[in-house]
Amino acid sequence: MNRMKVVLGVTGASGAAIAVRIAERLSDIEGVELHLVLSPAANRTLAHEVGAEALPSLLRKAARTYDHADIGAAIASGSFSTAGMIVAPCSMRTLAAIASGMADNLVVRAADVHLKERHRLILMARETPLHLGHLRNMCAVTEMGAIVMPPVPAFYHRPETIEAIVDHLAARAIDLLALPIAPLAKAWQGEG
Ligand SMILES: Cc1cc2nc3c(=O)[nH]c(=O)nc-3n(C[C@H](O)[C@H](O)[C@H](O)COP(=O)(O)O)c2cc1C
Repeated sequence: MNRMKVVLGVTGASGAAIAVRIAERLSDIEGVELHLVLSPAANRTLAHEVGAEALPSLLRKAARTYDHADIGAAIASGSFSTAGMIVAPCSMRTLAAIASGMADNLVVRAADVHLKERHRLILMARETPLHLGHLRNMCAVTEMGAIVMPPVPAFYHRPETIEAIVDHLAARAIDLLALPIAPLAKAWQGEG
C-alpha cells in the first residue's frame, strides 16, 4: 500500500510536548508514515520540558528518523512526495531561516522543499512577545505558502488539563494537513 508520508520537524522552541502528541496521533492514523527530524536544541527542550523518556518515545513513533545535519537525506529532495510537513514547535531561529531560504540544516531544507513544491507546510511558531522581525518572518513564510499556526490554546472548550490543551493543538495542526480523514479536533458547536 502507498502510505502517506508526513514530515515532522521538531525545533528548540518551548512546547516540545506538542511534538510528542503530534507524533502519537499521526502514528495512530492508518496509512500515515511519520518521517522525523529534530534539531539539537529540540533534544534539550524535550528533555527539559517533557523528560528523559520523551526522545525515545518520540523516535519510536517514526517510520524513519533523520540526522539534522544530513542535508542529503530523502526528505531534502522535492522528489520525495509527502502529504505535508509540520514544524512543531517552530523556533524563531528556524522561522527566520525558512523565511530567508537559509536551508543549511535538514529541518529548514525539508521546509524549503515543501514550499518550492507547493506542498503543505505548517509552522507552529512559538515565541512571546514578538518583535517586528518575528512578525515580518511570519508574513514572509505566509506569502511563500506556509501556514503559521502559533500554539495558542483555545479556551472555549474549557480544557481542564495541560494534556487537553496539548492534544487540541496537536489535532488542529494535523487537521491543517488536510489528510483524507475525518477532522481530529473537536469542532465548536455554538454556544448553549
Ligand atoms: C528551554 C528552552 C526554551 C526555549 N524556548 C524558545 C521559544 O519558545 N521560542 C524560540 O524561538 N526559542 C526558544 N528557545 C531558544 C532556541 O532553542 C534557540 O534559539 C535555538 O538556537 C533554536 O535552534 P533550532 O531552531 O535549530 O531548534 C528556547 C531554548 C530553551 C533551552
